[in-house]
Amino acid sequence: MTTIQRPRPGAAPLPVISPDSGFDGCFRAVPVALVVWGIDGRVIDVNDAAIALLACTREQAIGARVNAFWPAPRHVLPNDPGAEHDLRRASGEHVPVLVSTAAIAHCGAPCRISVVHDLRDRKRLELDLLQARKLEAVGQLAAGVAHELNTPIQFVSDNLHFLRDAFGDLLKAVDALAAAAADGAPASAREIAAQAALADNEVDYLREETPDAIARSLGGLDRVAAIVRALKAFAHPRAGTHATDLHAEIETTLVIAKNEYKYVADVVTEFGELPKVRANANQLNQVFLNLIVNASHAIHDAGRGRGTITISTRRDGPDHVVVAFADTGAGIPEAVRERIFEPFFTTKEVGRGTGQGLSLSHHIVVEEHGGTLTFETEPGRGTTFFIRLPVASKRVPETRF
Ligand SMILES: Nc1ncnc2c1ncn2[C@@H]1O[C@H](COP(=O)(O)OP(=O)(O)OP(=O)(O)O)[C@@H](O)[C@H]1O
Ligand SMILES: [Mg+2]
Repeated sequence: MTTIQRPRPGAAPLPVISPDSGFDGCFRAVPVALVVWGIDGRVIDVNDAAIALLACTREQAIGARVNAFWPAPRHVLPNDPGAEHDLRRASGEHVPVLVSTAAIAHCGAPCRISVVHDLRDRKRLELDLLQARKLEAVGQLAAGVAHELNTPIQFVSDNLHFLRDAFGDLLKAVDALAAAAADGAPASAREIAAQAALADNEVDYLREETPDAIARSLGGLDRVAAIVRALKAFAHPRAGTHATDLHAEIETTLVIAKNEYKYVADVVTEFGELPKVRANANQLNQVFLNLIVNASHAIHDAGRGRGTITISTRRDGPDHVVVAFADTGAGIPEAVRERIFEPFFTTKEVGRGTGQGLSLSHHIVVEEHGGTLTFETEPGRGTTFFIRLPVASKRVPETRF
């Protein structure tokens, strides 16, 4: 069958598949990258989309090792669902791809065909979505953060009022001293007048209290600056992975989330010695935040009064670290344990939870960082979530788009 395609005005001419071109024509024209390779691991053929994706010529691709582009599977699964890899282009650039492979016969010899999907657009969308969710979380926390800012601001304001009055009293004392000094009275009377000027204006009291008021004001302003810094660090979009100090990120999240937990729980941190971990701090903050909010809700729901959230970190062998969030909350009932990582699964009423926190956290820890997210729970006693992360990220170099 000959297919005559009418190109849209301005569009590139479409490939024409004719009886002569047959399967080969279809193979070349399919708009998904196809790579045929032998059981010796060398490329036998590539279609046009593969050439564009690999960013090399057909001649360069044919005969090259598949492993030069992505880690080729030793065994082919029936109905291979595909696996994500970082494809290495001829230029050295990395492109996130999904590769599924099937066994076929090519010219009578057993070989493999890999379908390679370019995931750059999907990854970009995922990043946008994660950032949008993060900003949504910041929006939800905004009232609490405003409250947290209000306390030190109130504090600074009270101290500045005190300092203003103190300054007024000191000026009065200075004026009275000057008047006493200028007076033509005998020295003993001038001294009495000076003592009275100091006593009337409580100069000893001001001498004692003023440095404290200044120190308290500076402390309050440091607190405001720390909250603003944490908010900026939390909301700032940081793409890719970087050497990350997990303790600093946990502290940042605790500052932002304080209003969420402070009425129901004390937070205890038991930080071990950790190396910097190659991670996306922005994404991990989101996981920490969800686990802290979940723990606070669970403690509140247990109805046993104030509880404790213990955040501990430790190294796990040379290549991994573990961050654990333990709460003294209600625990997770057996009936729902299987479902808590499902998107939109929630036991909370509308407005308190949407059921996205753990599924998003799972995605971030497992898919984005090559780690694991697990939990242990005991109804009535509490729950501990464990984040286990590789020290080096799953994606060897930073993914570039
Ligand atoms: N620490 C915990 N203790 C007890 N139950 C928990 C705990 N963490 C999660 N759960 C259960 O798992 C469910 C799913 O949690 P998840 O964080 O995904 O969603 P959510 O907290 O309900 O809503 P969202 O996080 O989207 O605001 C919760 O509704 C709750 O039933
Ligand atoms: Mg949650």
